[in-house]
Amino acid sequence: MTSLKAADRLSGQPGSVWVEFIALANETKSINLGQGFPNFAPPDNIVTDLVEATTNSGPLMNQYTRAGGHPRLVKIVSEMYGEYFNRKIDPMTEVLVSVGAYGSLYYALMSHVNPGDEVIIIEPSFDCYEPVVLMAGGKPRHVPLRPARNDVESTADWKLDKAELEAAFSEKTKAIVVNSPNNPLGKVFTYEELETVADLCKKYDILCISDEVYEHMVYDGNKHLRMANLPDMLERTISIFSAGKIFSATGWKLGWSIGPPHLIKNMMTIHQNCVFTCATPLQEAVARGLELEMSRRDTPECFFNSTVSALDAKRTKMEKWLREANLSPMVPEGGYFMLARIDDKDVDLSGFGDGPRDYKFVRYLMKTQKTDWDSLGDGIEQRRLWLERDSNQRPLEWDSNQRPLEWDSNQRPLEWDSNQRL
Ligand SMILES: Cc1ncc(COP(=O)(O)O)c(C=O)c1O
Repeated sequence: MTSLKAADRLSGQPGSVWVEFIALANETKSINLGQGFPNFAPPDNIVTDLVEATTNSGPLMNQYTRAGGHPRLVKIVSEMYGEYFNRKIDPMTEVLVSVGAYGSLYYALMSHVNPGDEVIIIEPSFDCYEPVVLMAGGKPRHVPLRPARNDVESTADWKLDKAELEAAFSEKTKAIVVNSPNNPLGKVFTYEELETVADLCKKYDILCISDEVYEHMVYDGNKHLRMANLPDMLERTISIFSAGKIFSATGWKLGWSIGPPHLIKNMMTIHQNCVFTCATPLQEAVARGLELEMSRRDTPECFFNSTVSALDAKRTKMEKWLREANLSPMVPEGGYFMLARIDDKDVDLSGFGDGPRDYKFVRYLMKTQKTDWDSLGDGIEQRRLWLERDSNQRPLEWDSNQRPLEWDSNQRPLEWDSNQRL
């Protein structure tokens, strides 16, 4: 038996929440809405563009492209975000295309955090920030958003406490990760909250990593504000985006960072020694997709806008169903997650494993509160239809007996329907 051991940088890594809960969802046949991906198809045009890029755009479209990003993609990204940031963005030095926003987050942290540096993470947060900080040898400092009232109904009721945030800053702080709209809460940060963060970043001279993957998904007239647009923040902000989120095509795993050349250059060093370049045809298809959406950006047909309308309607339905299930939803201002309060639930959770109360509560829900579809009346049929059809009314994850199909650990269905499609 070999004595090979994992590198020290792997020690102390928290386990992934998904390992347990995907398996449990499969085992209990629960519908897993927890993971951040839609159950409907991406726009037809980008799928056609991908086919066209691989089959009919010349052989070079299937070969390596420019390391920092395919020229057509970085061009449209710089034009599009040039409008959002109200400045000219150099596509060659201020944009870096990565494998998903995940790749950008990894580069941003790995290329700036030294062992012992502290990185502030505003909680609740996307689950990769902490492990990546640890991987870089850094120390995560968590600062929670806190509910401003007991009976929170909207994510706007969650606030960032200025004094608590400032208390986490010190000369050891290297960076802060801000995610608005926030995963999982759905909170959209106000100008005052971003300004509080920005003032501290400038005071302590630190890097701001602004994860904006849900940039277009804001509801109720809320506006997504961009950290790099705050006074004097450009020079210290890396803004991170995701084509997977923009186009509801999370499996494409394409993202990009935008920032000043001195920060993008650092990230580029990791990129070129890690993946070197991202898939050419995917970049081409995303570029064509962005060009189309930018040409119709002020119309309801623009995918950025139609996605928000579709998600908004689903948000209303989900809120209603959670209330009917005797849960208290916190209506999100943005993103595509919805959390429900459980502090008001008096449930005996002994016998539902170890760990935090929310873990136990979800185990309890999956194991004991599963819907018996057959015992439900007509109303449930609507829900079933809503869950089982995509926007083109194609069946999704249900089998011919109208039961959810089983999913494998990669969230692919184990069985396909009779038409061999999802
Ligand atoms: C807040 C946040 N950032 C980054 C990502 C990763 O995005 P991508 O799939 O483009 O890597 C996700 C995915 O769920 C996310 O929710």
